[in-house]
Amino acid sequence: MAAHELHETAKELVAEGKGILAADESTGTIKKRFDSIGLESTEENRRTYRELLFTTEGVEEFISGVILYDETIRQSASDGTPFPQLLASKGIIPGIKVDTGAKPLPLAEGETITEGLDGLRERLAEYRELGARFAKWRATYSIDEHKPSEYCVWTNAHALARYAALCQEAGLVPIVEPEVLMDGDHDIKASARVTGRVQNAVYVELHDQRVDLYGTLLKPNMVLSGYGASNRAGIDEVAEASLDVYYRHVPAAVPGIVFLSGGQSDEDATAHLNAMNARGPHPWELSFSYGRALQAPTLKAWGGKPENVEAAQRAFYHRAKMNSAARTGMYAPEMEREAVPV
Ligand code: 13P
Repeated sequence: MAAHELHETAKELVAEGKGILAADESTGTIKKRFDSIGLESTEENRRTYRELLFTTEGVEEFISGVILYDETIRQSASDGTPFPQLLASKGIIPGIKVDTGAKPLPLAEGETITEGLDGLRERLAEYRELGARFAKWRATYSIDEHKPSEYCVWTNAHALARYAALCQEAGLVPIVEPEVLMDGDHDIKASARVTGRVQNAVYVELHDQRVDLYGTLLKPNMVLSGYGASNRAGIDEVAEASLDVYYRHVPAAVPGIVFLSGGQSDEDATAHLNAMNARGPHPWELSFSYGRALQAPTLKAWGGKPENVEAAQRAFYHRAKMNSAARTGMYAPEMEREAVPV
């Protein structure tokens, strides 16, 4: 695989004003999302919902790539066009989640190791045939007095790098996602310390396993106060603490940092991204790869009802547009009310 193609794909994913839609919820996770609107999680309902997202007119102005799930990459729109081809025809790059989930890390209570390496080389070859040009693997870390352990930090970093090397061999850009979870009552300093520790280990392993950083993207958590903390840090503090961690730990060869939203409200996720970009320029593009923060208003407007498809698409378009504005630091909360989405 030409390194050139990987570099170009990584750059296209963080093209000016654009970011990624994470629509790769596993069957278990999408069921939870559908439960919130009282909709049964059948294969056809999942297909219908993803079609609603992917056929939103004009959203390609703001969305460079979509992360799909194994079931979704094999599904088609109502007119029979396979989803990867539908996306590619709009200039949106199809991607695929390839880990098989975070499982209990043995002998480490409450910690996880992400699985999915066995047979990954063959799965990646198949996904590339199906049209994927990039992939995602998520590791998770919890914060408390004893967590994350060094054991958890290094086993996950090793697995992330094994995945990334296999992706590059297969011609797919790996999105490397070490997510420090924000559950707990820790302060923003603890969040910064752990996020830095985790990223440091990830870049040691990526280096040792010969991964070409120019052909990768990092998908990290933002540095926030724990969701249960009193006196949670505000937007400026989050932006500054987050940037400080990435400046210390993310090499400038990485073309882009594409954030997960991790349970933030959709408007908070936009405001935080905006505040970081307003402090630019930075060595890397700062963009989004949101799941919930792009989809929550969409799901709510849809409610599983055919007559609400247009309203849901307007809500999705609006959220994507707001995050596109945050790519350049030009977002302002007043813009939320300019175009009433529903
Ligand atoms: P959230 O933005 O909902 O955290 O999802 C992003 C993602 O892909 C997590 O792996």
